[in-house]
Amino acid sequence: MRYGYFDVANREYVIERPDVPVSWTNYIGVKDLGAVLSHNAGGYAFYQSAEHHRITRFRQNGVPLDRPGHYVYVRDDDTGEYWSLSWQPVGKSLAQASYHCRHGLSYSKFSCDTRGIQGEQLIFIPIEEDVELWDVRLRNTSGRPRQLSVFSYVEFSFHHINIDNQNLQMSLYASGASCADSIIEYDFFYEPWSFHYLAASFQPDSFDCRRDSFLGPYRTETDPLAVERGECFNSAELGGNHCGALHKRLTVMPGEERRLTFMLGVGPRQTGQAMRAKYSDPAQVDADFAALKEFWRKKYSVFQCHTPHPGLDAMINTWNLYQAETNVVWSRFASFIEVGGRTGLGYRDTSQDVLSVPHTNPAKCKQRLMELLHGQVQQGYGLHLFDPEVFKPQADQLPGVKLPTVVPTPSPADIIHGLEHTCSDDALWIVASVGEYVKETAEIEFLDQQIPFADGGTASVYEHLRRAIDFSTAQVGPHGVCKGLRADWNDCLNLGGGESAMVSFLHHWALLNFIEIARRLGRTADVEACTARAAQIRQVCEEQLWDGQWYLRGFTRRGLKIGSAENEEGKIFLESNSLAVLSEAATPEHGRQCMDAVDRHLFSPYGLHLVWPSFSRPDDDIGYITRVYPGIKENGAIFSHPNPWAIVAECKLGRGDRAMKFHDALLPYAQNDQIEIREAEPYVYCQFIMGRDHTAHGRARHPWLTGSAGWMYHAVTHWMLGIRPGFDGLTIDPCIPGQWPGFEVVRQWLGATYLIKVTNPRLAQHGVKAQRLNGQLVTGPIPPQPVGTVNTVEVEMA
Ligand code: GLC
Repeated sequence: MRYGYFDVANREYVIERPDVPVSWTNYIGVKDLGAVLSHNAGGYAFYQSAEHHRITRFRQNGVPLDRPGHYVYVRDDDTGEYWSLSWQPVGKSLAQASYHCRHGLSYSKFSCDTRGIQGEQLIFIPIEEDVELWDVRLRNTSGRPRQLSVFSYVEFSFHHINIDNQNLQMSLYASGASCADSIIEYDFFYEPWSFHYLAASFQPDSFDCRRDSFLGPYRTETDPLAVERGECFNSAELGGNHCGALHKRLTVMPGEERRLTFMLGVGPRQTGQAMRAKYSDPAQVDADFAALKEFWRKKYSVFQCHTPHPGLDAMINTWNLYQAETNVVWSRFASFIEVGGRTGLGYRDTSQDVLSVPHTNPAKCKQRLMELLHGQVQQGYGLHLFDPEVFKPQADQLPGVKLPTVVPTPSPADIIHGLEHTCSDDALWIVASVGEYVKETAEIEFLDQQIPFADGGTASVYEHLRRAIDFSTAQVGPHGVCKGLRADWNDCLNLGGGESAMVSFLHHWALLNFIEIARRLGRTADVEACTARAAQIRQVCEEQLWDGQWYLRGFTRRGLKIGSAENEEGKIFLESNSLAVLSEAATPEHGRQCMDAVDRHLFSPYGLHLVWPSFSRPDDDIGYITRVYPGIKENGAIFSHPNPWAIVAECKLGRGDRAMKFHDALLPYAQNDQIEIREAEPYVYCQFIMGRDHTAHGRARHPWLTGSAGWMYHAVTHWMLGIRPGFDGLTIDPCIPGQWPGFEVVRQWLGATYLIKVTNPRLAQHGVKAQRLNGQLVTGPIPPQPVGTVNTVEVEMA
């Protein structure tokens, strides 16, 4: 069953049936102001932080599941009938009205056609302003003049989300709202820096600032009293629950289109005035929307592919890139799942996310890298979850006033945790990401940049990376394998204080990346020492971790094996085996064998399971994973994040058919017509998909914010299509299905454009026979070409 389709040419996903099983969301805003909105315009806005600076309210996990939202109501003043431009909240019968939602790159467009009125609400945030615009159009197709009323509705939230949720004796009396000069201002009396506003391009005929006046007693957003009666109550109050409802009466002549703009923003009424003046001109709205489209065009133009696989093209050229960028910009803190309780950066998550988009968002990637390096302690480990704001001087305080609503910001000293809370993998991920950033930008001097440690002292980026690696060298257990510490990448596998095979593999991978950087900087002694260390790790891994058909996952503190054929449950894990190969620690033969075992035991039509069989009996020596229901999340679901590691592993083994088999199983695009099983958005990766040990096998959960986004983008662009910027040039090393006759990629790198055409006359899966740059044979990486040039690269596989 399908609910919509990919409009590839317009880079939009179009939802034709709004009664989707779960909300299908989109992200609006590319800088400080952001909103997460469903295909029914449900959701919330925030400024910089969904936790500390919330703008609109959201009743998470509510019934229905996406209320309230950023709504426009239309009322036929002749008949009293009303509807919303998104299907919900009014939820008019689909027999009487047709609704479409177009989710695009940082905008969503809701449209409704009913009773001879075509309505549209386009929501976006201009790149340069902290204001969310609703560009509303109403076209009369009925052939007779129509008297209409239009209403906006948002429910304002107290800015600190915990206070809004839990401390009503505070939140209900510490804010107020009023309407003056056609602008509703929501304010915090004693915090003169905190204001939100709702404005519109017209002079309102009525307004409501009090939520409960607008809705009416025992009513909801479905049937607000003000809309039903055709007029707001002009309510305003200090204290209470507040909303932004502005009402306008319109006469729309046959064939006529009326256009109104609403503006939801951050700042006091004066800012609202300025935005009102600016965006009352529809030409300005159009210009800013065009600028947003141009912003994304510039990004996606850096890498565009044309392959025999439409699903791969749609994801890589638009959706997967968009999702990967979203993770770098908003980390894990704003979605319908993460609803504001997790501000800041997860060390390992963000370290991996930035691997994916240094080519389209170098500035944000660099900012994230610097924040993460600052969140590293001198001993080399990373602070598992921290808010980089902690390291910035506090500004928002009134001198001498202690404010009850200010959530105290901890001092840097308070957030430094000891080894018992340290995850063994966190800081290792950043080594490859720093390398990738420098290869993409050629900003070699970044490696010398001085960055403080969280616990004092300063060192170069290069030295930070060395400490991350040295930390893992020091933290080994009795088998010589890295200790698991609190947990490794798998949050639920605590190993009871034991050792983690995957961290030893990851350590090896970090070393290889570090060696490449050290070689580029001419640090020969480091290259030699790290090369010797990497060889030792490989030896330990082969001696201690090879289980006969695949690699172990680790040892418990008591020395029992995890992820062994000897075990009854949890015999084989995806993370350790795919990383064994991705990290090049595995021997080629064991690499092939273990990935064959992954295919045999972990593959399903919806992707690779994390572990098989799932655990059914609690065992705290193994960890919390054994207390998760079988088939869910880390305990035997198809956990998306390591799936692309397996794809990279297969590419490193040169097996393009297998890589594509794994890719296609997880591909959301491929599940567009199976929404009765998948339920979640078919245009983004989800954190996990219920595994075969669960009754809902195939159901996807937790869309958008997942490490699989960045990793899948990296796996496809760098390893399947095989286009990798390096210190010496651009490597083109595809690993594709044997049936592909070839593919084309346009890649911008260091200011030059490369039109890459790969042909595969012998239907190989891997291997390059010859490559030509502008007609000339070249061996090895393609050297960077002069800025502004357009170059052809022909690659013949064999
Ligand atoms: C979640 C966490 C991530 C972790 C993964 C596996 O996605 O955000 O840090 O690696 O679960 O446990």
